Amino acid sequence: MEKKSYRFGIISALQEEQAGLITQMLNAKTVTLGKRDYVQGNLWGVDCVCVLSRLGKVASSATAAMLIERFEVSHLLFTGVAGSADPEVRVGDIVIASELVQHDMDTRPLFPRFEIPLTGLSRFPSDTGINRYLLEAASSFLEQDLLTEISEESRLDFNLQQPRIHQGLIASGDEFIASVARLQELKVDFPDLLAVEMEGAAVAQVCHEFDVPFSVIRTISDNANEDSAVDFLSFIRHVASVYAFHTMRRLCALLP
Ligand code: ADE
Repeated sequence: MEKKSYRFGIISALQEEQAGLITQMLNAKTVTLGKRDYVQGNLWGVDCVCVLSRLGKVASSATAAMLIERFEVSHLLFTGVAGSADPEVRVGDIVIASELVQHDMDTRPLFPRFEIPLTGLSRFPSDTGINRYLLEAASSFLEQDLLTEISEESRLDFNLQQPRIHQGLIASGDEFIASVARLQELKVDFPDLLAVEMEGAAVAQVCHEFDVPFSVIRTISDNANEDSAVDFLSFIRHVASVYAFHTMRRLCALLP
């Protein structure tokens, strides 16, 4: 039965972070706008619109605004990968953002560093309601699907022993973080930072401006250090889409 109170916009930056979802859609219809394919249909009983934003804050903001205005989504979800910004957060772990900051926003001396001008905000909180369902969906995925859905070879390659789920601060910027020194600078600015990526806080700003509830869920693909590009590519190829697919499947089943 369709869950009529929702229309979820589901964004990922890259195809590998969302692969498989649209093949599960019933009554899928594709609309191409702004060089992106928006695929609308029914995913496990939930009306959804799936789209790939490509990388970065501008690309993801344009995509989020289109989902809200043209497709009238009720909720927005970003699913993808991120670099770890904390030793407790390991490759294969999942981070659900409780709040998001744009680490490259700096309009000093006009406004305080990191503040989004004229909003009075630097950190945007995500939706606690969806986050609760996401946490349950991701926990069930790790407990019940990981061993069957991810090959032993990949589990060994990426040392996916007992992946954990974290909730906290994610920082976004138009920069792939690939050095320990750069990550340390970010940690000075945000000691509570759990993960870095390139889209979530931009989507958060757009959702704030349109009053649309949103969540960001990220699987850790790398440690944002000198090896991050190699780890990132290999991880998204072999693991990322499996996490996204099964977490989304379980989320749709859980939604009331
Ligand atoms: N997404 C995944 N890994 C990342 C990194 N190291 N920096 C920025 N975005 C990322």
